[in-house]
Amino acid sequence: MDQLVIRGGRQLSGEVRVSGAKNAALPLMAAALLSEEPLELDNAPRLVDVRTIGRLLRHMGVEVAGEGTPTIRLRASTVRRPEAPYDLVKTMRASVLVLGPLVARIGRARVSLPGGCAIGPRPINLHLMGLERLGATIRLNQGYVEAEAARLKGARIAFDLQTVTGTENLMMAAALAEGTTILENAACEPEVEDLARLLNAMGAKVEGAGTPTIVIHGVPSLGGAVHRIIPDRIEAGTFAIAAAITGGDVVLRECRPDHLEAIAAKLEEAGVRLQAGQDSLRVTGAGRARAVNVRTQPFPGFATDMQAQMMALMTVADGRSVITEAVFENRFMHVNELLRLGADITIAGNTAVVQGMPALLGAPVMATDLRASACLILAGLAAQGTTVISRIYHLDRGYEVIERKLTALGADIERVRA
Ligand code: EPZ
Repeated sequence: MDQLVIRGGRQLSGEVRVSGAKNAALPLMAAALLSEEPLELDNAPRLVDVRTIGRLLRHMGVEVAGEGTPTIRLRASTVRRPEAPYDLVKTMRASVLVLGPLVARIGRARVSLPGGCAIGPRPINLHLMGLERLGATIRLNQGYVEAEAARLKGARIAFDLQTVTGTENLMMAAALAEGTTILENAACEPEVEDLARLLNAMGAKVEGAGTPTIVIHGVPSLGGAVHRIIPDRIEAGTFAIAAAITGGDVVLRECRPDHLEAIAAKLEEAGVRLQAGQDSLRVTGAGRARAVNVRTQPFPGFATDMQAQMMALMTVADGRSVITEAVFENRFMHVNELLRLGADITIAGNTAVVQGMPALLGAPVMATDLRASACLILAGLAAQGTTVISRIYHLDRGYEVIERKLTALGADIERVRA
């Protein structure tokens, strides 16, 4: 089991290239199931999760090539096995993204229920409600969702809460349905918009992606396409906080400042200086950050995937901050680990009160989920002394060679085999 060893106290400086977005790459790869023609995805991140969905698609009979390189080529000439087995789905909940495309393309699917994960039960009831609205019959059988539909028919689907992969699943299913589908209270994340752009390049008719109302006019079939994956706004936000927490000066390259507005606004409120370019963002820490309050929300609000990273910055900020996690039920697993570094945090329900300390002190800590891992790295960069992070397999799911990128910025961080 690898560990990361970080010797804190170094100011980061220089430039870092932001990789393609994990949460865009996954639905984009699932979209290959919708067509017999080849799909080419550029700017693909080299991540464990990308390899996992590649393995899942191959299991179904999809040709997949290029994982681990910037360009992934996929072709679902035929879909031999329309099923997503438990042993694959349990390692990555986003596997549920094959459900909509399978039902739309071949009229049936057998997908394992994902089960919960560290940050909450994360049900998929809205995905299933939407497919039923489109005319699929859904059965739950021995931990699997079994869905069938001779031909999906367009319908109006109103989500009672905004779900990113729920919106993506149903947008893909509706693309091949007969007639028009309207998604109300759809998720507005940039990754939803990126998927709509790919679907339209394949010949779909999707309007309004990126807004709460998405209209999809079904078409009989879809073709292939070449598509460049958008930059990863969460990786970008993570590096922005790395610059802020070390009082450094870092330029993020190939990022989309327009996807980072809520995070940038919070950092500016905390006294961090940001200068946005066309596809770059310069982040300059100006001494100790000021404490600010944060409440996570669906896009364009402050991203829940940035909550842990912001909390790391607040542990050494000047003052007291109140952080409310309003999207997931249990996304404070990183708090106990931050306490081991000397942070002062009190949890009450879905709210954490952080009293900023002058400094953290390095210690051995344990990663519990993807973004908690990133939070512990950020705290270790700022802490005095050495921090050793174990269970960093969580990290490799969503960050492309993060220790190499941080080393290039001047951090003293290395991966060791325990
Ligand atoms: C996506 O997960 C992201 N994953 C998550 O990123 C991200 O945290 C989340 O959206 C919120 O932004 C991918 O895009 C692959 P949701 P998703 O459905 O789609 C509830 C990361 O770190 N809900 O938007 O699974 C759910 O329990 C990961 O990269 C239902 O109740 O999240 C949650 O409380 C972590 N029923 C809320 O909605 C449903 O049918 C938002 O979940 C679906 C969701």
